Amino acid sequence: MTEAQARHIVLAARPHGKPQLTDFRLEDTAIPTPRAGQVLLRVQYLSLDPYMRGRMDDRQSYAKPVPLGGVMDGESVATVIASHHPGYAEGDIVLAQTGWRTHALSERADLRKLDPAVAPVTTGLGVLGMPGFTADGGLRVIGKPAPGETVVVAAASGPVGSLVGQLAKLAGARAVGIAGGPEKCAYVQDELRFDAAIDHRDAAFAAKLTAACLDGIDVYFENVGGAIWQAVLPLLNTFARAPVSGLIAQYNGVGKGDGTDRLPATMREVLSKSLTVRGFINNEFAAEHYPAFLREVGDGIADGRIRYREDFVDGLEQAPAAFIGVLEGRNFGKLIVRMDT
Ligand SMILES: NC(=O)c1ccc[n+]([C@@H]2O[C@H](COP(=O)([O-])OP(=O)(O)OC[C@H]3O[C@@H](n4cnc5c(N)ncnc54)[C@H](OP(=O)(O)O)[C@@H]3O)[C@@H](O)[C@H]2O)c1
Repeated sequence: MTEAQARHIVLAARPHGKPQLTDFRLEDTAIPTPRAGQVLLRVQYLSLDPYMRGRMDDRQSYAKPVPLGGVMDGESVATVIASHHPGYAEGDIVLAQTGWRTHALSERADLRKLDPAVAPVTTGLGVLGMPGFTADGGLRVIGKPAPGETVVVAAASGPVGSLVGQLAKLAGARAVGIAGGPEKCAYVQDELRFDAAIDHRDAAFAAKLTAACLDGIDVYFENVGGAIWQAVLPLLNTFARAPVSGLIAQYNGVGKGDGTDRLPATMREVLSKSLTVRGFINNEFAAEHYPAFLREVGDGIADGRIRYREDFVDGLEQAPAAFIGVLEGRNFGKLIVRMDT
């Protein structure tokens, strides 16, 4: 990339099932010029998140799909490199919805300034940002773990799951994490201090989960769906709560499976155990709970009660492969593209 050029990544084709590298296209473009009221941003760190898979499909959802040829959606940590906006100065570091770009214009009032003295700026994309707030809001509003209860979460080494378990522990509950592979499980148990971590790729997964939840499950924070939900369902206690945050096992589509219709059995459990199963999108809770989240999780990071892990790849051109990897569990921690500076 020359100094005079910007780059971005567009959606080149809609995936059928698992995304392919050919579904993305890296393009050179001119660095835009800010007008009155706008700032020019240079992206330092681009967040890669599971929700982006949904934006690649032309399907009605809670957010609009990316149009074919459109720049992929995404949130970034960016530096203001030129400002014609009274609220921002050159050198300010902000959170911004830039998409997968090296440079972007913004005039949005919802840029959030980041102070590197408070926490590393990349935390604004993970534990102190949208994924962290998803964990916090889903537990605070729906899960409501009580002391002594058992909270289970899958994708437990990622930015959502890792905070779910740690907040559950801080609330006095037991935390059981589900993760893919021994390395992630060791991290969840030893570093994040969950009470147990179970590998969903283990042939004895369901039996090991049962053994780790001898008093049943009071809160299941759903990030994954599919086979993991099936293993959890029989263990749910009467009045258990299941905040449904994500269903990543289904984002690339579901195969034919074994042909069994599991909905009737699921609904029987919902009824007979008085379960609360509630889906949510994190921003539903923002107006009421975001300030408390920033304060409480920020304090927890500052004094070491809350830990987090980030997984960096270098260069915008690596974003498609890294993103495809999230949908296969190849990331280990909050996945972030470190841009060329
Ligand atoms: N509702 C909301 O507002 C909201 C906001 C943010 C995120 N979310 C959802 O929260 C979930 C976690 O997001 P995150 O950002 O924390 O992601 P993440 O944990 O960093 O990455 C996703 C993880 O999911 C697991 N996974 C991927 N494919 C899987 C499959 N087919 N079967 C089982 N596990 C699979 C992998 O972990 P393992 O290797 O450990 O299995 C992978 O590392 C996602 O479902 C996401 O869509 C929801």
